[in-house]
Amino acid sequence: MEVKVVLLTGGSSGIGAATAHMLASAGMKVYAGSRRGTIDTPQEGIVPVKLDVNDAAATEAVVADILSREGRLDAVVCNAGNGIFGPVEGTLEEEARTQFETTYFGSFKTIQACLPIFRKQGFGRIITITSVMAILQLPFQGFYSSAKAALLSLSQSLSMELKGSGIQCCSILPGDVATGFTQARRKNKCAEDPASPYKDAMKKNLAKIEKDELGGMSPDVIARAVLRQLRKKHMRVRVIPRIDYKAVALLVRILPASWALALLNALYS
Ligand SMILES: NC(=O)c1ccc[n+]([C@@H]2O[C@H](COP(=O)([O-])OP(=O)(O)OC[C@H]3O[C@@H](n4cnc5c(N)ncnc54)[C@H](OP(=O)(O)O)[C@@H]3O)[C@@H](O)[C@H]2O)c1
Repeated sequence: MEVKVVLLTGGSSGIGAATAHMLASAGMKVYAGSRRGTIDTPQEGIVPVKLDVNDAAATEAVVADILSREGRLDAVVCNAGNGIFGPVEGTLEEEARTQFETTYFGSFKTIQACLPIFRKQGFGRIITITSVMAILQLPFQGFYSSAKAALLSLSQSLSMELKGSGIQCCSILPGDVATGFTQARRKNKCAEDPASPYKDAMKKNLAKIEKDELGGMSPDVIARAVLRQLRKKHMRVRVIPRIDYKAVALLVRILPASWALALLNALYS
């Protein structure tokens, strides 16, 4: 079966908007969900929809609506996400939960809403946009990394559970991408504390990650990776776009963990 109808979350900006445009240009019908429910540049083939992934009932209603209009749903791209910044020591439980709500539970509930349709069709594609931070950790981004690592694990477990069903899973792990993500990043309450023992390290770290992101790759690189996987007969389970990020991921995997963390810490704090 060919992918013709796609539900994409976080479709109003950045990687999501670029993906919506690329898939629509390739002839797919893309339901681009976001809380805003808009897309900056309208295009034939893209249907912006209001969708907060933290609202499971609303997600199910959107999925049911797509099915009644199109009679099919071939793929879901779970891209909606946000970032929080701050030291583990002072992070409030509710701040940590907010990170997991959208990144992990939002994706999990979206996937669950689509699975019955995929099962019935005997065909479906599930792509999660995680991050290289799912496999390499940085200081002050412990909850972002944990939430992305949890989502990557979920995708990989699910890919095994779905073996033989006709439904495939792929997680795409972007490195730095120049989007509104940098501006939307929320700092934990304790990250703003002028008396924090982490003050200097946080300042250096934040300046470095913001510089890397703002000078990062175009969201089109990630959109192309999504399109490439959706067109494949057999999607890859895990994709790291760009050779430089692949090399860093490999280095972190082969080095002893303490060396890898020392290297990342030296670079980022
Ligand atoms: N930029 C990077 O360097 C980078 C690197 C690795 C991974 N990523 C991941 O890529 C994904 C897209 O991020 P981006 O860089 O494109 O940032 P972005 O421009 O800030 O896009 C985030 C998207 O998620 C949507 N969103 C946020 N909360 C939502 C919710 N509760 N329900 C539905 N939609 C929601 C936003 O739309 P509304 O505000 O309208 O809801 C927006 O469309 C994220 O999962 C991010 O973690 C980004």
